[in-house]
Amino acid sequence: MTDSRRTITSTDAVHAGDARTKPFDALPESIVQTATYTFASTEEVIQLTEGTHAREHREEYGRYGNPTCRAVEVRMAALEATDDALLFSSGMAAVTTTILALVKAGQHVVLFRDCYRQTREFVTKTLAKFNVAHTLVEPGDLDGLAAAIRPETRLVISESPSNPYLTCIDLAKMAAICKPHRGLKTMIDATFATPVNCRPASLGVDLVVHSATKYIAGHNDVLAGVVCGSTGLVSLVRDLRDVLGAVCDPHAAFLVGRGMKTLSLRVERQNATAMQLARFLEAHPKVERVFYPGLESHESHAIAKSQMRGFGGVVSFIVRGGLTASRGVCDRAKLARIAPSLGGVETLIEPPAVMSYYEMTTEQREAIGIYDGLVRLAVGIEDAADIQADIAQALGD
Ligand SMILES: Cc1ncc(COP(=O)(O)O)c(C=O)c1O
Repeated sequence: MTDSRRTITSTDAVHAGDARTKPFDALPESIVQTATYTFASTEEVIQLTEGTHAREHREEYGRYGNPTCRAVEVRMAALEATDDALLFSSGMAAVTTTILALVKAGQHVVLFRDCYRQTREFVTKTLAKFNVAHTLVEPGDLDGLAAAIRPETRLVISESPSNPYLTCIDLAKMAAICKPHRGLKTMIDATFATPVNCRPASLGVDLVVHSATKYIAGHNDVLAGVVCGSTGLVSLVRDLRDVLGAVCDPHAAFLVGRGMKTLSLRVERQNATAMQLARFLEAHPKVERVFYPGLESHESHAIAKSQMRGFGGVVSFIVRGGLTASRGVCDRAKLARIAPSLGGVETLIEPPAVMSYYEMTTEQREAIGIYDGLVRLAVGIEDAADIQADIAQALGD
């Protein structure tokens, strides 16, 4: 088994999936902006259908494949060290299509509770409509996972680190618990980690998904998602994606591929800045608690240290004074902009109680672990000193 912390190569981030020759001898990948592909004759259509076409690969129709998208998929598979990868129109398209491809009525999934709200809604509400049962397990609780597995369990889903408390799950142990169960697959949403910091497949995880909207594309200007895994599993997901149709647009794929070239540079900077901010916040009198896996005080610190190279660019913290205080920090921030995303070059800040859980009462939010004083800070690549000065003034220093 390879080391999940082994660095991705920046060379792969720049070149993997790169076609040797490109139209007009252009250096970057071309945007093949087409909905369909032409055939010289009906004979060629038959050759493609029968698998006897002279070319190793040719496209047929835009929903089934696109060279710009394919280049990104190959690069992504290289970065996650998996056989293959599949691109989608958004992170949620990747999450939902992958889950749907792996489960059917009468089966059961396990989801770790601390996760992106829409993923939880999909599992608890949408899957329930199709008679797929679920069990929610507390963040990182592997005994809870072992107890939740039933003969009909087909999928275990977790984020690592999770949103918004950055809980990391012991991925090798999770995979080891699941492996003996026939037909049971594991899926990790590694959006917050990126392959720069952790490669779950190298620890035995079956499928790795990303909201590529975040660090992978990295510029807050495009939505995309990706799933990485073995040839067999990815082709299973591809078959359903080609039916459901949540494919990535070629122009969006170009932006994702361009962003990926600087992935390690950006994430290394974001790791360092977030670590600095986490230490600053931990020492701040107006801050009650900081959640960052790089801090010794975080419950996942030991696990994170053992399986991650860096701890990511998101720092969550609880300010004293509840909702008024968390909103005040976000409203006073100037460099950090209020927006519901993360992983891009611009620093973003949000109070989850307002941004994602506003319709609930304080008590309802607390019941699912979302505290009114919680602030999620997603650092960009600006100078760390400027971000820290902005957060300091937002806290009233
Ligand atoms: C961990 C995680 N997974 C999935 C998603 C969904 O991704 P997208 O917004 O690209 O659909 C998000 C979005 O914030 C996320 O944070």
